[in-house]
Order: sequence, then structure tokens, then C-alpha cells
Amino acid sequence: MNNDSKYHNISIFLHWMVGLAVLAQLSLGFWMEGVPKAPPGLRAGWFNFHKSTGMILAILILCRVVWRLTHRPPELPDVLTPLKKTLAQWNHRLLYACMLIMPLSGFLGSSFTPYPIKFFGTPLPRFWGPMPEMKEFLAVVHASTALGIVGIVVIHIVAALAHAYQKDGVAQRMWFSFQPKAPTPLENTP
Ligand code: HEM
Ligand code: HEM
Repeated sequence: MNNDSKYHNISIFLHWMVGLAVLAQLSLGFWMEGVPKAPPGLRAGWFNFHKSTGMILAILILCRVVWRLTHRPPELPDVLTPLKKTLAQWNHRLLYACMLIMPLSGFLGSSFTPYPIKFFGTPLPRFWGPMPEMKEFLAVVHASTALGIVGIVVIHIVAALAHAYQKDGVAQRMWFSFQPKAPTPLENTP
């Protein structure tokens, strides 16, 4: 497999870092919903932690999206039928869309509650007052996109593992390679 048919090492690094962080943030989100309200502060503490890690993740996701928009991925190989190529492209587009909607809906939803959003304990400035209907709507968007992304990620991982098992080179494109550059004619001269 040559370097043109593989993702850039930075794309691969961003894929694994952001992908694993999103999985951790999803687990934290679902888990904290079951944290009891007593003793006072316990549940709020975990919610605040989730908001802070979510804001850091939002920055990483933005970096990933900017990198993706400025760097074309390698063409999907012809071992895939045209239908499979289209399905893969839509799977990736939906993952990017969900990765943007998650932190945006979480942040905006939290900004419409009566409490300020805290970044690891530091309250952030507020730009508008509480609006319960907006908060409720965005909480529904946040929770349903979380369920959506879980479904799309499951399909994504099953497909990636199937390709890894078939050893058809598709899964390999998302793993690091450090192939030495071919020497130029000048470097060959004694
Ligand atoms: C990629 C980033 C994020 C992911 C994957 C994520 C994931 C989740 C998940 C899975 C839940 C539980 C949903 C449910 O069952 O109701 C949740 C809840 C919540 N998230 Fe996030 N979240 C992210 C970013 C954020 C951010 C940036 C904030 C706010 C600054 C935030 C605020 C909240 C709040 C307040 C809840 C509780 C909602 C409620 O109970 O009504 N999230 N999040
Ligand atoms: C942990 C298991 C995962 C595996 C084994 C995996 C595997 C892969 C592979 C092999 C590709 C390249 C597909 C191709 O050849 O075009 C890929 C692309 C991609 N993956 Fe994953 N992935 C995983 C988790 C995730 C997660 C959790 C997310 C996001 C939440 C994610 C988002 C993406 C996106 C957006 C692309 C398309 C990259 C682009 O073209 O810009 N992946 N993944």
C-alpha cells in the first residue's frame, strides 16, 4: 500500500484521538444520568465535569473538521462496489455532523438554564437569560443525537472490523505508516 492510498498520519492521529474521546464522552454522559442527586453537589459535579470535557472535545472536533476540509482524504479503493463507497461516505458525513451537533446542542442547551456554564470551576460569561423551552428542546436534540451517533458508530466499527478481517486494505488506510521516502536520483550519486 503506497502513501497516496492512505490517510495522512495527522488525519489518522486526529481520527483515533477524537474517536476515542467521543466514545469516552458518550459513556460519561449516559453514566452521569444515573448519578443520584444526594449528597448535594455530587450529580452537579459530574455534570459540570462533562460540560468542561465536552468543551475541550469541541475544540478538538473543530480542529479535526478544519483539517479534513483542507486535506482531501484518499479515494476509496475499487475493492468496494459503488454502493458501498456511497454508504461509507454517508456514514462518515453523518459522524462528522453528529460530532458537531453534540457539543453545540450541549453548550447551547446549558446556556439557557438559570446557572452559568463552568469550565473546571470558572463560570463563563452569559449572553442571554434562562429560556426553559429552548433548554428542553436542545436537551432532546443532545440526547437523540447521542443515540444516533451510537448507532452510526456501531455500523462504522463493524464495517471497519469486517474489512480488517478480509484484509482488503480498507482498514489499513486508517493506521500509521512510516514508509521512508524514495531516494531522489541526486541522493543516489556517490
Ligand atoms: C462531543 C461532545 C459531547 C458528547 C458526546 C456528549 C454526550 C452526552 C450524553 C450521551 C448525554 C446523556 C444524554 C441522555 O441520555 O439524556 C449527555 C448529557 C448532557 N450533556 Fe453532553 N455531550 C457532549 C458535550 C456536551 C457539552 C459541550 C455540554 C455543555 C457545555 C454538555 C452538556 C450536557 C448536559 C447538561 C447533559 C444532561 C442533559 C439532561 O439531562 O437533560 N454536553 N451528553
Ligand atoms: C474504535 C473503533 C473504530 C475503528 C476500528 C475505526 C476505523 C476507521 C477506518 C478503518 C476508517 C477509514 C475508512 C476508509 O478507508 O475510508 C475510518 C474513518 C473514519 N472514522 Fe473511524 N473508526 C473507529 C471509531 C470511530 C469513531 C468513534 C468515530 C467518531 C465518533 C469515527 C469517525 C470516523 C470518520 C469521520 C471517518 C472518515 C474520515 C475521513 O474521511 O475524513 N471513527 N474509521
